[in-house]
Amino acid sequence: KLPPRYDEPLPAAFFPSSAPLPFSRADFGPDFHWGASAAAYQTEGAWQHQGKGPSIWDDFTRRKGVVRRNEHGRVAADFYNRYETDLDLAAKMGLTDFRFSAAWARVLPEGIGAVNRRGLDFYDRLVDACLERDLRPWLTLYHWDLPSALQARGGWTNRNIVGWFSEYAQLMARRLGDRVAHWCVLNEPMVFVGAGHLLGIHAPGRRHLGAFLAAAHHATLAQAEGGRALRALLPESAEIGTTFSCSYTVPYRPGNAYDEAATRRADALLNRFFVEPTLGLGYPVAELPALRWLLDRYQKPGDEQRLKFDFDFWGIQNYTREVVKFSPWLPLQWATLVPAMQRGVPFTDMGWEVYPESIYHMLKQYAAYPNAPKLIITESGSAFPDDVVAGRVPDAARRAYLQAAIGQVLRARREGVDVGGYFAWSLTDNFEWAEGYGPRFGLIHVDYETQERILKDSGRWYKKFLGGSAVEN
Ligand code: NOJ
Repeated sequence: KLPPRYDEPLPAAFFPSSAPLPFSRADFGPDFHWGASAAAYQTEGAWQHQGKGPSIWDDFTRRKGVVRRNEHGRVAADFYNRYETDLDLAAKMGLTDFRFSAAWARVLPEGIGAVNRRGLDFYDRLVDACLERDLRPWLTLYHWDLPSALQARGGWTNRNIVGWFSEYAQLMARRLGDRVAHWCVLNEPMVFVGAGHLLGIHAPGRRHLGAFLAAAHHATLAQAEGGRALRALLPESAEIGTTFSCSYTVPYRPGNAYDEAATRRADALLNRFFVEPTLGLGYPVAELPALRWLLDRYQKPGDEQRLKFDFDFWGIQNYTREVVKFSPWLPLQWATLVPAMQRGVPFTDMGWEVYPESIYHMLKQYAAYPNAPKLIITESGSAFPDDVVAGRVPDAARRAYLQAAIGQVLRARREGVDVGGYFAWSLTDNFEWAEGYGPRFGLIHVDYETQERILKDSGRWYKKFLGGSAVEN
């Protein structure tokens, strides 16, 4: 089953009947944050420019066969040189906020120690350029590009990373804390820990259960410690959050006890692992007994306290749901995620099921924790093939997904969920990690030959919506 094209009728999945219609921007209240997100390695390029040190993604993409067509982010969308153009487009779209990450190795080429002034100056200019355009900057400290020098010392598997990361967080807070009011500590720890240390499909490319558990624990510690480092230096009004990947999980055979149990395990791993320790609930060991090993080997006395941090918001990042089947054969012997293709449902260029209702379910799930902070959708989006037709990009599928996802956020809001913002992934097309430049998520099309930008129909729709037009459909 091929992904739908813009000139074909879209399947009903794009317009779930659960969406409240009609709706408009005004339904979200005047203070709702409307943004788009991006990340350093995926957009900046300038990989060796002005003193930047190497990162694990510079190293990983040098290996043959790990990224589609052996692509890399050395130039990417050339955001380092074109940020003003892109921010102009963001402002023209009517966005109120822009979320981006800093490349740790650009400001600290060795990860710790000597500061690269020119690298730090870049983020200073970027922040000012946002503010000049009335875009509130949201800075993510870590979006997966660890300095190679720290990887050489074990990277996330070395407990010292908690201190290294705090040093970097303090540097950024000292330099930008007077102008950046919104901070995200980590981007999707389950992805960089899991894909990077267990599946081996992301940098640093390891496949080792011990490395995974060590990295997971140290990332959870760094998540809280990074929050504390920021809190100590930022003005009281600053909002400190961190982001989580998540997918609504449902059993392949509803009612089947094995699939139901497998679904609870997948939910614990995908959706609960990095969240619950921040609340003082510890890791979900009951569902994931293998975590006993983590506790025995890597957890030190006092860590349970150290894992806690009172975040001002949680960044929720959602793209699809997962349908889970019991499987005795996988290495973890517990669950398998049944691909959308096998289930005969519409899917995106990532192979992910088109299921905008997932975002609603995840908002409800996270809001249900006692003491849950405010929620912000820090990423939501879809990849579909794009065509440039007479200077336009008629991306009906992406536009429909965007509209449906926003409708699902409203649905949750109307049911009392405290959700304060929506950030589309992504502002521009960019380097999609192991998938290279194939999947396009942008509201703005990038021609990688010429670096020309075109606002896609999805971006034009977002602009109209932000301008006050009602969504009927
Ligand atoms: C989440 C990640 O944060 C981002 O880097 C990635 O491009 C999107 N998911 C899409 O896969």
